[in-house]
Amino acid sequence: MKILLFALFNILTVYHLLAQTILPTPMEIIKRDSFFRFTDSISVSWNNKGENEARYFEEKFPTEKIVYTKNDSQANLFFNTIENKTLGDEGYRLEVLSHQIIISANNEAGFFYGLQSLFFLMPNVVLDPGISLFNVRIFCQEITDKPKYPWRSFMLDSGRQYQSPAFIKKYLDRMAMLKMNTFHWHLTEKLGWRLEIKRYPKLTSIGSNVAIGPEQQGFYTQKQIRDIIAYAKKLHIQVVPEIDVPGHANAALTAYPELTCFNKMPEKGDEYHSTLFCGGNEKTYEFLENILDEVCELFPSEYIHLGGDEAPKANWDKCPLCQKKIKKENLKDSHELQLYFSKRLANYLRLKGKKAIFWGDVVYSDGITLPDNVVIYWWNWNGHEDKALKNALARGHQVICGTNFGTYLNYPIEPWGHYGKNRTFDLRQTYDENPSDLKNPNPLVLGMGTSLWTDWNVREHMIDQRVFPRIFSLAEQMWHVGEKIPYNEFYMRVKLKRSFMKLMGIKYGPAIFPEIPENYSWE
Ligand code: ACM
Ligand code: ZN
Repeated sequence: MKILLFALFNILTVYHLLAQTILPTPMEIIKRDSFFRFTDSISVSWNNKGENEARYFEEKFPTEKIVYTKNDSQANLFFNTIENKTLGDEGYRLEVLSHQIIISANNEAGFFYGLQSLFFLMPNVVLDPGISLFNVRIFCQEITDKPKYPWRSFMLDSGRQYQSPAFIKKYLDRMAMLKMNTFHWHLTEKLGWRLEIKRYPKLTSIGSNVAIGPEQQGFYTQKQIRDIIAYAKKLHIQVVPEIDVPGHANAALTAYPELTCFNKMPEKGDEYHSTLFCGGNEKTYEFLENILDEVCELFPSEYIHLGGDEAPKANWDKCPLCQKKIKKENLKDSHELQLYFSKRLANYLRLKGKKAIFWGDVVYSDGITLPDNVVIYWWNWNGHEDKALKNALARGHQVICGTNFGTYLNYPIEPWGHYGKNRTFDLRQTYDENPSDLKNPNPLVLGMGTSLWTDWNVREHMIDQRVFPRIFSLAEQMWHVGEKIPYNEFYMRVKLKRSFMKLMGIKYGPAIFPEIPENYSWE
């Protein structure tokens, strides 16, 4: 009997230990004997920076009575401001001692990430109001951690499908848990313009209603956007808006058809985005600059994404205004006109102290040099492999890596809808074969992004099963410094997190299974 109990105790201890795995994997963990347990009260303190992060702890445990005092270095949880060059802006040290937990960092972001790691060590209590903090045993350890990349983004396509502000906030929470710091918000598309622009009200009164289907209607008021930005800021997430031009803009051009080449409303079902903003019409530039005035006023981020992908030039090739502009500016053709267009908008953003991000399409050909405040988002692995990456680096641009194979989480795991076999990948492929996971990244590589496009009616309720658990692979590649964990071990860790994620309302999709269950519903 004794032996049995001893074995059971050991099994539980091992399970407990494994369940306390932190993802993305920290840079260094030194395990110690013994464990920490909250005893008769919960005290939290800080000595300099970190009060907001200390209070975020309270937000996570609203039913606990927590005593807050500044400068109580003996508190159960102590936020210790230090000066440590190697930890940088986002790194932290988390020490779990038998009598106290100390998070040390240079800055607030470091405290916040230390806290996120601590939550992974308390898997049964976070967000489960039924369990008290007093029941938690945390194994003693010392963790030193910092990110691999300064840019770690998640993109959500709110253009094709509208999602509620509550849903957006839920995803911001999940990004924070995964230590991602940039919400790339794709706000304008062929099927919907979602951003209130006071100067051009038809963008939303018409442009947010162009698509058929109730879920596709809707837009965000500037007040709602401010609220979301403030929410994200507390989670140390910057919100980078994307205004996709000159293509992918049918919704805007349905509202303002006078800005198309032939003053013609885009046709419904124009799958290939053949209607662009006219690149020869000065009114286009005036319109977009006025929009950027409001966008820059609204979004504090240093970066504004201006799209630039998939803009077929059939209309520009025929349009008298476009052709006149090409002549006047000594351009070779319509492709160079897009570079001229991109350069003008990037220079406009430079006047406001901002950087412009463009999809890699703008560096495929030679021609006009883009300004040095341009950052390239390398996406089209399926179409052009690493051409955008190579060309951007050769021209000295910073790059964000987010290839469609490996990081586009709307790509399913098996063929579905319009996604054929070549547009599928599973958890192992995301982890081991993702082209964006560079071996020796050039210093111009700012980081990595992952995207959830909502083509083919991917609605809110269909998103988790696509994102989870594959996003753990991407978070790992964005954050983890040091040797890569072998896939089998990584897989086991992700699997162990399943019940913890369930507590948070996250349901893993079939990427967690070796085989997809028969007749699995992606809808
Ligand atoms: C893209 O997927 N069209 C950027
Ligand atoms: Zn034109």
